[in-house]
Amino acid sequence: MMKLPLAITLFLVPVVAQAWPWSHDQANQISVKPQESVDEKNPGMRPFPKNSVPVPGTKSVVKDMAAAEKLTNPIPADEKSVAYGERMFKIYCTPCHGMSGKGDGLVGAKLLLKPYDLTADQTKERSDGFIWGYMTFGGAVMPSYANDLSVKERWHVINYVRKVLQQGQSGESATPPVR
Ligand code: HEC
Repeated sequence: MMKLPLAITLFLVPVVAQAWPWSHDQANQISVKPQESVDEKNPGMRPFPKNSVPVPGTKSVVKDMAAAEKLTNPIPADEKSVAYGERMFKIYCTPCHGMSGKGDGLVGAKLLLKPYDLTADQTKERSDGFIWGYMTFGGAVMPSYANDLSVKERWHVINYVRKVLQQGQSGESATPPVR
């Protein structure tokens, strides 16, 4: 009487393990596999051409805040940069920091830790690298913007914050945005 369940168990093992000879047949075709070399003299795996594979997210070459603080702003705060930074600031930063940068955004009002006033002396005295790092890594409450803003875009935002919000230069330039 115990023989039958044992036979069923033995039959189920290869099914579950996909161990039948035909379980893998379809993988063994003569078709060329992705990245497989078609050059008979150089068989094996072809290396990916440089920068040909999209990778999710943004790779930051800057390790942490301490490293970011040492960076200097490589982008001159000209009219184009400020105008582009303004567009980005209005999309990504105003919900919390408000149009004026003073921290009076509608989303910010709901946070337990209120967004800082970016026009206050504290932030004025921060280095560009510090602000760049804050956008890259985020803060205690503030999220990271490393995936939304490219490395360059973050510098444009800083140029806008400095020139228009902190130093009061007029924004809203008619210059078409640059990337
Ligand atoms: C979801 C709300 C939110 C958004 C959006 C946001 N911030 Fe913040 N930010 C905060 C909060 C809250 C703080 C306070 C400190 C913390 O969270 O660590 C802060 C702090 C900062 C600081 C630190 C200032 C200092 O002197 O220490 C900087 C710089 C900053 N934000 C810049 C930005 C920029 C630029 C953007 C747009 C790319 C942005 N923030 C978008 C919420 C936000």
